[in-house]
Parts: sequence; C-alpha cells; structure tokens
Amino acid sequence: MFRASASGSWMFSALNSIKEDTINGKTVHTSSPHYNVTKGVRTMVSKKMHVALNKQIGYEFSSAYLYLSMSAHFHAVNLPGFAHWMNEQYKEEMGHGMKFFSYIYERGGKVELEAIDKPPSSFKNPLDIFKQVLDHEKKVSGTINALYELALKESDYPSQVMLHWFIAEQVEEEKAASDIIEQLKMIGDAPAGLMMLDRQLAARS
Ligand SMILES: [Fe+2]
Ligand SMILES: [Fe+2]
Repeated sequence: MFRASASGSWMFSALNSIKEDTINGKTVHTSSPHYNVTKGVRTMVSKKMHVALNKQIGYEFSSAYLYLSMSAHFHAVNLPGFAHWMNEQYKEEMGHGMKFFSYIYERGGKVELEAIDKPPSSFKNPLDIFKQVLDHEKKVSGTINALYELALKESDYPSQVMLHWFIAEQVEEEKAASDIIEQLKMIGDAPAGLMMLDRQLAARS
C-alpha cells in the first residue's frame, strides 16, 4: 500500500514491515512472491491447470470483445441504453480476464495472451442479440465448470476457491440475460416498450 510521507513524497509503507524467514537454509523475505506462510514456498499451479487458466483469459477477453461489438451496434441503431448495458458488460468481462491474469501470476505462472477472434459486427433485433448473449454465457459457464472439474481432479484447492466466485457470477450473468429476453418477448414489436427498456438499461452501473 502506498501512503504519503510527512514531506509529501510517496513512500512504500510495506518497506517498514519486511521480515525474513529461513527455508532450506536460505534466507527469504516474507514479501517475496516465492514465500508462502503455510508451506514456506509459494505453491505452483500445475502445468495442465496453467494452460487451462491461460485459455480462460482469452475466453473472457473474447466475451468482452463480443459485447463491445454489440455496444457499437446498439449505438448505430439509436438505442443508447442498450449500448451502455453492453459497454458495462464489456468492462465486466475485461475484469474477469484480469482476475485470471492476476491469479496465474499469484500462483507462480506466467501469462501468455492468446489471439482474439474478430467478433461479429452485424446483428439482428435486440431479442436475437440477447439470445446470443445467453448462449455465449452458457458456453462460458461450461468452460468455468470444466476448470473446476480439473481443479477437483488435481486437488488444486486454491483454484477451487477462486473458481467459486466465477461459478456464482455465471449464474448471475445467465439470469441477467434471461430476464432481458423475457422483457423483450413481452415488448414484442411495441416501440414504446423498447424505449422504456432502453431507459432502464441506461441505469446499469
Ligand atoms: Fe466472464
Ligand atoms: Fe460473462
């Protein structure tokens, strides 16, 4: 954590709390990334898990790219609330990708970013788009569940704990898309209803 010193310059406050430990005869700072309070050295993620987690970063960034493309579409058809909702979704997916990015680093792995495919750029009506969102989220839920299965198989307890958050998140994401699909079905071809939903989606933060 950074804090301002009395003189106004920035100081790294953790410097005051660095301690040392001895592991296999070697001195290791407790602030070192290779130090783990329970095992002495940081537990490394397995090769298989590392590859799978690394791929998941790509899936999350691909999701972000898809939703950003949908946002661009909604801007083009004068539905700014829908465009805003998709932009928020884009930001969330970037956050998911970065969670995996940080986790790999924390477990002693190196991130290798994958290529991201060009997302579709032409879309049909809002109902069709949100059906596409739901299908996409179901696929992502599948990749998260597969990661969890691997973590169980490998008795990788830290990854299981980390993935609990994503499992709950996927339930929310699928529900959010399903709820909007239901509203769009009720609206049908009524422009007034679509305008109301657009205003509602504009309020997402
Ligand atoms: Fe995600
Ligand atoms: Fe998602």
